[in-house]
Amino acid sequence: MRQIVAAGNWKMNMTPSETKALISELAPLVKDAKNKVIVCPTAVCLPAAVEAAKGTNILVGAQNMYFEDKGAFTGEISADMLLDLGIKYVILGHSERRQYFAETDETVNKKVLKAFEKGLTPIICVGESLEQREQGVTADLVRMQVKIALLGVTADQAKNTIIAYEPIWAIGTGKTATTEQAEEVCKTIRDCVCELYDCATAEAITIQYGGSVNAKNSAELFAQENIDGGLVGGASLKAADFSVIANS
Ligand code: PGA
Repeated sequence: MRQIVAAGNWKMNMTPSETKALISELAPLVKDAKNKVIVCPTAVCLPAAVEAAKGTNILVGAQNMYFEDKGAFTGEISADMLLDLGIKYVILGHSERRQYFAETDETVNKKVLKAFEKGLTPIICVGESLEQREQGVTADLVRMQVKIALLGVTADQAKNTIIAYEPIWAIGTGKTATTEQAEEVCKTIRDCVCELYDCATAEAITIQYGGSVNAKNSAELFAQENIDGGLVGGASLKAADFSVIANS
């Protein structure tokens, strides 16, 4: 059985002090969660998050990292910097990074390879826009994003990958994909991984749904055969809501 993974993408919210407070509030509420619980605060809040999460079952992930080891890349964060803090997870290729910060499938792939080289688990985000869904190219697009992101990734590495299917039209809009829509695309991704590697790898890989996941819809979404949890934005900023999702 694959484990359900509830990951909170805090985006550009919370200061370091607020990070400490939110994790302290969340910790007792998720201490018995069977799901894996990950919070992903912004980079400057990571040390505070790691500190606050010590002795709890809350894991800490980053929202991004660069694919070079070090050097003249002003403003970027390396894998080693994350590892030095004790971080094990990193979100890569979120649609907001693709939309506002010019990330492409190729840069996402470079980051995925660097994450694995260094021993970080990537949470790779894929998903279509409303226009692409209406054009009927969702499956083609998502399969292409998955295939490029995983170029050069071994089957063993792929087994430890988390892929988050996040339809762009459902992110931050309150418009969740229906359970059927979410399950359909998550299954498409699993089938694609089976074609790329083998079905044992496809069975092992974690595929999350993301896009307006909340305390009310998480249980039904996570109960689907091919949905192994969620990548949660807005609702992860409230301990009460995120704890319900983490316990779903
Ligand atoms: P949302 O964001 O839950 O606020 O829709 C999800 C995400 O972007 O990861």
